[in-house]
Amino acid sequence: ANVAVFISGTGSNMINLINQASNPSSHCTIRLVICNKPEAKGLERARERGIEAICIPHGDDRHVFENKIYQELIKRDIDFICLAGFMRILTGEFTQKWVNRIINIHPSLLPSFKGKDAVKLALEAGVKVTGCTAHFVSEEVDAGKIIAQEVVAVEDNDDEKTLHTKIQEKEHSMFPKVMEIVAKSIVFSI
Ligand code: GRF
Repeated sequence: ANVAVFISGTGSNMINLINQASNPSSHCTIRLVICNKPEAKGLERARERGIEAICIPHGDDRHVFENKIYQELIKRDIDFICLAGFMRILTGEFTQKWVNRIINIHPSLLPSFKGKDAVKLALEAGVKVTGCTAHFVSEEVDAGKIIAQEVVAVEDNDDEKTLHTKIQEKEHSMFPKVMEIVAKSIVFSI
């Protein structure tokens, strides 16, 4: 399956997806990385690994932004999309074109703590366990069908940084496995 990875930042999850796809038994080919931020470290990190990585700044108009993305995906015959720290909300118009073909990784046990401050909100709520969720993306933010979750214990001395680091370790092992499962289901349904 041809995969596009969308990022906005450092791209540590993206690197784990690239590593997974380089495995000879993988069903995934990462054809493209799209980033909305020109200064994001992930762009260079993808290119260093021989993956085409382009920047499409998000600008003011979501439809213009998404149309540009759509053209690039179609050109490369992309089958599905992994959101790996992509910090823009996609419109229903876009997600409806890719039903069950966009997956996201989120740093909480959904449906708790949706949105961009998930780790902070979990700490503020005083929960003793949190974790990460891989899910399909639908129009409503962080609300699509859940594919997999991993649990992380919250220690008394955790702050946002230490907790996020522990959650990310789980993300890094879980998200590549989920990408592979989704790819297989696409490959075998063709
Ligand atoms: C991850 O924690 C992910 O859950 C969230 O954004 C973060 C991205 O980190 N959606 P990275 O760019 O993969 O390092």
